[in-house]
Amino acid sequence: MPRRFHIRTYGCQMNVHDSDKLTNLLLHAGWAQAESDGSCELLVINTCSIREKAENKLYSDLGVLREWKDEVPGRALGVGGCVAQQEGDAILRRFGHLDFVFGTHNLRWVPEMAEAAFEGMRGARTETNASQERFDLPERHPEFRASTPGRAFLTVMEGCDMFCSFCIVPTTRGREISRPAQGILDEAAALADAGVRQLTLLGQTVNAYGRHDQRRDQTAEAGTMGFAALVRRLAEIPGIERIRYTSPHPLFFDEALVRAHAEVPELCPHVHLPLQSGSDRMLDAMRRRYTAEEYMRWAEALKAARPGLVLTTDVIVGFPGETEADFQATLALVEALAFVDAYTFKYSPRPGTPAAQLTEGSVAADVAQDRLERLQDLLRRLTLDAHRARVGETTEILVEGPSRRATERPDQPVQIRGRDPQHRLVNAEHSAPGGSLVRVEIVDATPHSLIGRPVPAEGVTLTRGERIADEKGRLSAPS
Ligand code: 5AD
Ligand code: SF4
Repeated sequence: MPRRFHIRTYGCQMNVHDSDKLTNLLLHAGWAQAESDGSCELLVINTCSIREKAENKLYSDLGVLREWKDEVPGRALGVGGCVAQQEGDAILRRFGHLDFVFGTHNLRWVPEMAEAAFEGMRGARTETNASQERFDLPERHPEFRASTPGRAFLTVMEGCDMFCSFCIVPTTRGREISRPAQGILDEAAALADAGVRQLTLLGQTVNAYGRHDQRRDQTAEAGTMGFAALVRRLAEIPGIERIRYTSPHPLFFDEALVRAHAEVPELCPHVHLPLQSGSDRMLDAMRRRYTAEEYMRWAEALKAARPGLVLTTDVIVGFPGETEADFQATLALVEALAFVDAYTFKYSPRPGTPAAQLTEGSVAADVAQDRLERLQDLLRRLTLDAHRARVGETTEILVEGPSRRATERPDQPVQIRGRDPQHRLVNAEHSAPGGSLVRVEIVDATPHSLIGRPVPAEGVTLTRGERIADEKGRLSAPS
């Protein structure tokens, strides 16, 4: 029987996707996937260091796992991801029961490191490299079970050259690098053949795709193109019905991408566009390289290009120097742009970042907490307003699986959970399997989700032409 592995993943979608890549690599190396820590010989923790809380979680987990390791002889424990990239050998020295550590550019070495661990060898591989090697991974193994039926992530670029003053990512993920378009298109076509209908294009600044090659006039040599052009090419792949991307940076929006939102029906009417703050003073201190006004211009252009387009965002409160007036500017912008949802964070100083050196103007913990709560109150209201405004609409959901309600209330009719093109969660009474696209009418709204009911064309997926007609119909419908 093959040895079994289990991966615990923390952090962003890039990390989730890295864990998928690692799963695939281990399957190709002859490992089997286990459901839990209890039933595996190899446990890998894929870590996140974006905020201090995430990093501390690793250290407390590792403490507890000493027992896991001792419980059954011959178990191996590995740590990868952003904390591993930063701390490397130091984690290995601190935790004697840890077998190996691998950085964000070193996924491909994990099967080898795991083998070595069973031979009693410990090691760390955290070297970074600027080559395309890390994208050169095997195709999906037949045993690979997607946790998200019908959906897949697709890396188009990696790393970040923006160096926002609060952010550790440029250190943990390294320099910005874009994949040649052909590799991306081939991977997308293979995913479509395997039943994937929704692609989420991934990159730390995903819409910066190809920008360095364009600036150097080397797109031909590098095989890249502009981001909007890439989206259009992906949309032509038969079977790909939905394209999303995350996370774009406001600085890299251009007219071509806005036009793509108006013209490419597969491009979902949802953009997650990190704002961070609504105050120019804070944006400057954060080194975000745009003003609130510039952000607003792109946000409005997107909404105008695609009526019904939903904007979501990231906001940090309590950055050093943030005054009540700065925070009010954030609240005002969030309200003006009517974000439908947001990830909200209290600023967390990250060692080695420029902001961590700021000794003046630090915001007291209780003030930051109060701002976070006020921002979250506003967002709750905006989410509910947006959800209520959707009641009566017909939409199409990509089914994820049974809804949570279904497992809680087994006596009730079957409830499924899915995402509409705006990425809102929709619960509906339906029997469609995960990965299918079904049409529903929104009949109710809650602060967290929409409630849908099947419409007569149940189970029928719209064709590209029908979807465009449908969108146009909605646009001309009286509101
Ligand atoms: N403190 C708080 N939030 C942070 N983020 C990134 N770095 C920090 C930090 N040091 C947030 C930003 C980013 C999201 C992924 O995490 O809002 O967009
Ligand atoms: Fe971090 Fe800024 Fe890069 Fe985003 S753009 S990953 S916040 S440095």
